[in-house]
Amino acid sequence: MARHLFTAMLTAGALVGLLGSSSGARAEPPSSEEIVNAFEAVLGPIRTSRPSHAKGTCAAGHFTATPEGTRLSVAPVFNGQRVATVIRFGVGVGNPAGPDTGRTTRGLSIRFEMPSGDTWDMANISAPIFGSPTPEALVAGLLARRPDPATGQPNPQAVAAFVAANPATTLQARWLAATLPPASWATTPYWGVNAFRFQGADGEVRHARWVFEPAAGTQRLTEEETRTKPASFLADELRQRVARAPVEFDMVLQFPAPGDDVTNPTIAWPDDRPRAVVGRLVVTEVAPGPGGACDPISFLQLDMAPGVTYSEDPTLHARTGAYAVSLSRRLQ
Ligand code: HEM
Repeated sequence: MARHLFTAMLTAGALVGLLGSSSGARAEPPSSEEIVNAFEAVLGPIRTSRPSHAKGTCAAGHFTATPEGTRLSVAPVFNGQRVATVIRFGVGVGNPAGPDTGRTTRGLSIRFEMPSGDTWDMANISAPIFGSPTPEALVAGLLARRPDPATGQPNPQAVAAFVAANPATTLQARWLAATLPPASWATTPYWGVNAFRFQGADGEVRHARWVFEPAAGTQRLTEEETRTKPASFLADELRQRVARAPVEFDMVLQFPAPGDDVTNPTIAWPDDRPRAVVGRLVVTEVAPGPGGACDPISFLQLDMAPGVTYSEDPTLHARTGAYAVSLSRRLQ
């Protein structure tokens, strides 16, 4: 019930600022357990599906870095050889039956599997910004939306007070409300959102964010299609598309100018910042039905030292632990 409620909130885009920020100061960031408990407070206990991007389809393919990628990162993934990938396309709701037509994010998660056995993971979304500037804000925003046991609904005053006190938490929902959803998992950019540090072959370390840009171009549903398309069309559309030809994305790095904030994922850097195409992802297979190789894994190995390491963004630091706790609860 709560899970459906949460999805409805997301889909309508009515509640701006899904993932919010705390007004109370805390010395320590929330623990991974506290973060996942906050998701459960809204969605109910995690059983088998992810509390975020619960709906998804497994796929597979490969990634090859460009010479520019090899120059900009010494990580093995960027050595120019073809790297096998496990892929998961998702829909950013807490309900595995949530609609593909909602004004929520779509996800592109990738596990790069090196021949050495090393892996590098990323989980990207179809919005350039995240819904929360800090993990504290994420937890407080979720807890403000706990359903009241008496009504089964969140307390509107608590939500309104939270949103009013935490305007940064409204930015992603505003972007999503103003942007029609993708027509296909193959026709939207997917942003990594968090900044990382890239160590180049020249020894220099550069902050960067990335985006996967679709070779097919960006195509969105029409307003009418958001009302008339079936609740589940993305998986079959992708299967049919990949059966005709591989689906491809360019991985593009964006570099900040002095003064651009590398710590706050609710603020996108301006489009005119320098960019470099560092690789191409090719999707060659889509699972024929539910489940597959991506299901029992969590995309939590987010750095690949020394070539790609964490920035100072606090939300980035919260991710790995929370993903691991979530994984352990959904595989119990
Ligand atoms: C404070 C920061 C964050 C927290 C605590 C958080 C938490 C979570 C959790 C608990 C899951 C479920 C993991 C699992 O069960 O395998 C998840 C999945 C996901 N998150 Fe985050 N997240 C954060 C930031 C972000 C950001 C910035 C992005 C966007 C780039 C993002 C994109 C995703 C995606 C795409 C998935 C689905 C992964 C999959 O396909 O398995 N998250 N997140």
